[in-house]
Amino acid sequence: KKEITIGMLGCGTVGSGVATMIRENERELTQRLGVPVRIDKIVIRDLEKERGTFVDHDLLCLNIADVINDPSIDVIVEVMGGIEEAREAIEQALCAKKPVITANKDLMALHGHELLRLAHENSCDLYYEASVAGGIPIIRAVEDGLSSDRISGIMGIVNGTTNYILTKMKEENWSYDEALKKAQELGFAENDPTADVEGFDAARKMAILSTLAFSMEVHLEDVKVSGMTTIKKEDLALAEQFGYSVKMLGFSEHDENGVDASVEPVFLASSHPLASVRNEYNAVYVYGDAVGETMFYGPGAGSLPTATAVVSDVLMACRNLLLGIGGKRNPNPMYDRLIKGEEN
Ligand code: NDP
Ligand code: HSE
Repeated sequence: KKEITIGMLGCGTVGSGVATMIRENERELTQRLGVPVRIDKIVIRDLEKERGTFVDHDLLCLNIADVINDPSIDVIVEVMGGIEEAREAIEQALCAKKPVITANKDLMALHGHELLRLAHENSCDLYYEASVAGGIPIIRAVEDGLSSDRISGIMGIVNGTTNYILTKMKEENWSYDEALKKAQELGFAENDPTADVEGFDAARKMAILSTLAFSMEVHLEDVKVSGMTTIKKEDLALAEQFGYSVKMLGFSEHDENGVDASVEPVFLASSHPLASVRNEYNAVYVYGDAVGETMFYGPGAGSLPTATAVVSDVLMACRNLLLGIGGKRNPNPMYDRLIKGEEN
């Protein structure tokens, strides 16, 4: 192959970041891959919308099938969100033997197991690093870097919007509504921000991480969830007086009795490292029997940080495609069990 062509589904906050990175880092990406990577088609809903200088308007189209079925397109990047249309598109792409990169945690938390199986059956890659903690390569860390260890727990801030809201309410005296509005303007929040503030987005991420960490299917309904919509500025000020910060935390523990996972607002001693994670940043502790305590920190939402995860996945998929080893990557024994459909 002389070049790799990408079909993008969606070009909003994340998609425009992907387009920017592929243009801005063209030289580096070509060096790293040996051939150029080019976006060939981009599906969106509204052809009139302003999309910034890095999105070539000639590439825009309205029909998902046109992109997936285009034989000249090698790799599909799904950054449109939602469940059913995204699922159908990813299934079609995998059945057409095209590797898929997605940032869609809603979909991966609900149907990730089936989609991974379908990818395997079609000797295709399905990567989803951007689905958890934006720019932090936490999926790679759990499934590759720590795959030799027995992981016993995960704890952290995995939603940027709620951490941004809590930070602004505490430090800038903003109201909840003001802070949420700004998080939406900055592109951190989901289209329906209920998913963020009620804890479902974080619960989805904890389900995805727990599945990888504990080598078993952990579903969204296994995660207990409490939101943060009733927290007021006064609550944060009072907590501070007593030396505490309020943070939305995800927890997941694994022992002989199974998995205990939750997402909830908690009081953290202000001296705790997670208490100093500000704005849209995320931080995740992973505890392994051999490694002990590890902590991963970085931007958890936003255009370019999330795009780094997507484009790194694109590189990985392209490499495998060029080597003819798509779908053969099996870094974590968990995959064997999930793909074969073995019970927990
Ligand atoms: P946006 O709403 O900003 O962008 C969505 C894009 O998809 C838009 O370009 C939209 O078109 C297009 N689109 C949506 N539905 C369709 C459809 N049915 N057919 C064609 N095009 C469609 O979302 P984000 O970029 O914020 O998020 C995308 C995905 O990434 C989601 O799954 C989200 O959960 C995930 N994610 C988001 C992060 C973030 O920080 N925002 C971080 C990590 C993951 P149009 O522009 O014409 O409306
Ligand atoms: N809405 C999500 C968040 C985007 O705020 O964390 C990143 O997954």
